[in-house]
Amino acid sequence: MHGTIFSLLKRYVQTQYDHAAWVRLVEAAGLTSGDFSHKEVYPDEHLYALVGQAAVAAGIPPGELHEKFGEYLVPDLMYMYKRFVKPEWRTLDMLEHTEHSMHNQVRREHPENSPPVLNVQRLNENEVLIDYVSPRRMGGLAVGIVRGLAAYFDEADRIDVQPTTSEEGQRVQIHVRRTP
Ligand code: HEM
Repeated sequence: MHGTIFSLLKRYVQTQYDHAAWVRLVEAAGLTSGDFSHKEVYPDEHLYALVGQAAVAAGIPPGELHEKFGEYLVPDLMYMYKRFVKPEWRTLDMLEHTEHSMHNQVRREHPENSPPVLNVQRLNENEVLIDYVSPRRMGGLAVGIVRGLAAYFDEADRIDVQPTTSEEGQRVQIHVRRTP
């Protein structure tokens, strides 16, 4: 997984808790270093271990921690890839275009990265259906990112996000609806 995701997880833990909490987490996850470069790719297992331990420390299920972390990620991800975002896009447009504009760009820049495949269907002006497919089973993160995008575009009170399958599968469907 992209080093940026690790660095943002580190910042998330440091800001929600403190630096000592991060050091404890790195130890509990059995890692030798808690520093990550955005130019490197690190084993997925290290992220699972860190998220798993963070959930234990916070006393919440890992899926819930994934969601919170997904929400937290959005402003930084948007900042890094803002050149691929059209100024007129809102939450649903962003979702409709993530696969081609953002995730494809990630694949082009770093062939060793593998963001999930998102098949996004625009059902109508106010609804999209996201089909998330990834062996990493991080559907909770996907749900969190959608909520984070709604907040980013200042539409949180109008956007309803409903996973219609278990969030833990390799394939997760997420229904997103905007109140007209
Ligand atoms: C909006 C701009 C977005 C950017 C710039 C972005 C970028 C990225 C990057 C850099 C990664 C790491 C990939 C890797 O290390 O292989 C990633 C992973 C991921 N992305 Fe996105 N993403 C965006 C939107 C979304 C959206 C809208 C969703 C879900 C609806 C999503 C779901 C995920 C998930 C769940 C992962 C974790 C890896 C996995 O499950 O296989 N992303 N994304």
